[in-house]
Amino acid sequence: MKSRLFVAGNWKMNLDKNQALQLVREIEKNKEAFENVDVAIFPPFTLLSAVNDLLTGEVCHLGGQNCHDELVGAHTGEISASMLRDVGCDYVILGHSERRANQLETNEQVKKKVAIAAESNLTSIICVGETLDERNLGQALSVVEKQLIGSIPVDVDYNKLIVAYEPVGAIGTGKTATINDIAEIHAHIRIILSGLSLKGDNICILYGGSVKPVNAADIFQITDVGGALVGGASLLSRDFISILHAGAAIK
Ligand code: 13P
Repeated sequence: MKSRLFVAGNWKMNLDKNQALQLVREIEKNKEAFENVDVAIFPPFTLLSAVNDLLTGEVCHLGGQNCHDELVGAHTGEISASMLRDVGCDYVILGHSERRANQLETNEQVKKKVAIAAESNLTSIICVGETLDERNLGQALSVVEKQLIGSIPVDVDYNKLIVAYEPVGAIGTGKTATINDIAEIHAHIRIILSGLSLKGDNICILYGGSVKPVNAADIFQITDVGGALVGGASLLSRDFISILHAGAAIK
């Protein structure tokens, strides 16, 4: 039997306030249908407060898409983990491949952010995943292993960690990774986590990369897949709710 699935919607830099509130109303309206799934949404920073005002907190939780690695200070344009907590967040996405590629975020920085997030009582979703070139060179397992080990602080509370495997070639492309590839990497991540901590057996490992209503059920069935980190399909209420239904049906 699978434990409760976790489905997260990463809105990235999308949606205006009206669209966001409409989407949240739709999710909340349908919540009875997926009470057995943990749901979290990750709006842009500017929408966190307005979205939080609409959430009842029973089913759908709130998270930030990034945070700084210090709690306060002269860091123009940055947001701290404690500020996310203050506005109602329980989660933060760290080390997303878009940030690793575009903001040149390193494992070392991600590790510091994970530590400061835990201090602020936030659960980190640490993203790892190989590029298409790395996969074609047969380096997927080693790349993911290096990112994972490099991004987890030694003395972190493992109850405050979630890992998301997002192969870069599957993000926003409609080219979901194959069931075999997902199963292989998730099994490898599980072995690494179990080696790092006794609690590693229980850490939730999400899959992300073109998760859609049409493939969610198959992905959720895979051993060691604890849920999904959804991008594009989390922006459309019908698609996101359909993915949540698929999660609710998994036993
Ligand atoms: P897509 O679901 O749009 O492929 O995005 C995945 C992702 O990057 C979630 O963090």
